[in-house]
Amino acid sequence: MTLLDEIETLRGILEQDVASIKTQDDAEQFRLRHLVKKGTVQALTDRLRDVPKEEKPHVGKVLNEVRTWVNEVFAEVRERVTTRVTGPQIDLTLPLRGPIGGSLHPITATIDRIIDIFSSMGFDVAEGPDVEDDGHNFGKLNFAEDHPARDMQDTFFVASDSRSDILLRTHTSSVQVRVMESQTPPIRCIMPGRVYRNEAVSSRSLAEFHQIEGLYIDRNVTMADLKGTIMAFARSFYDATAEFRFRTSYFPFTEPSCEIDMSCFLCKGTGCKVCKHSGWLEICGAGMVHPNVLRNCGIDPDEYSGFAFGFGVERVVMMLTGIDDIRKLYENDLRVLRQF
Ligand code: PHE
Repeated sequence: MTLLDEIETLRGILEQDVASIKTQDDAEQFRLRHLVKKGTVQALTDRLRDVPKEEKPHVGKVLNEVRTWVNEVFAEVRERVTTRVTGPQIDLTLPLRGPIGGSLHPITATIDRIIDIFSSMGFDVAEGPDVEDDGHNFGKLNFAEDHPARDMQDTFFVASDSRSDILLRTHTSSVQVRVMESQTPPIRCIMPGRVYRNEAVSSRSLAEFHQIEGLYIDRNVTMADLKGTIMAFARSFYDATAEFRFRTSYFPFTEPSCEIDMSCFLCKGTGCKVCKHSGWLEICGAGMVHPNVLRNCGIDPDEYSGFAFGFGVERVVMMLTGIDDIRKLYENDLRVLRQF
């Protein structure tokens, strides 16, 4: 067999082998067998020196063609079977995004602001349990035995023992009782917390929400002190130029009782969506602590008097932020929360 024949045989083998390369490993096997210094192609090249002088140019040319061809197809095939780690193109020179900071929930932030203002007027902060007994939530607050607020429709009852029903407090006025029972006047205190009512959920009401209660007990406290305190708070919190109106109302635990409206801080009384075109916003219920309540809590009503007030935090937040559905405050949707 001449070298030329052997070159043709090798070309056939190379064609077959290169066609059967399927993986990166196959490609490497092919390279080690044919293309390295001790491989088949070089072996034939080495034998070129034994070819008679006059045949050398021709044989050399054929061999070169084979060599060029095999190198080309091999490069192509190897490229095809080589797996590369691919992924999104990342620009490593881009600057970092800043850290995404958290922020206080608007309800928490509002409670904090209210506490700040009352603290500056000398009020302490107190808290009481969410699960209460009937006495603290109703009885000692002068609710009659058959008062409709005790009704199943309003109150979530948890259990009842021999002494009392156990329930989820329906207002933070229960904390007033605890504060009066455990402290001696003068008492200046605000009491934020969650309260629970068995109400249908809607855009305006939830079965659980927040209230802030206020209590001031001392000698000679009058309705004028109540007015002054509420107005000072509201002028600091909402609007320095606000006007007020005190409407008579009824709560079993205050006498006299009132509800307090403030001229709308947005439209200044001319009428807008927030005040429902009335020009007024109701800010809280309040009154002079009923003598029966003082007595029930161990405070002598002949020596001391006081006022109490209470308002709903969610309503305040909705007025201030323009959020028109109370449920949005509890969905923890970041698109809402990031605005605060
Ligand atoms: N507890 C009353 C309510 O839930 C509010 C209130 C508190 C009224 C204190 C007067 C005094 O509606």
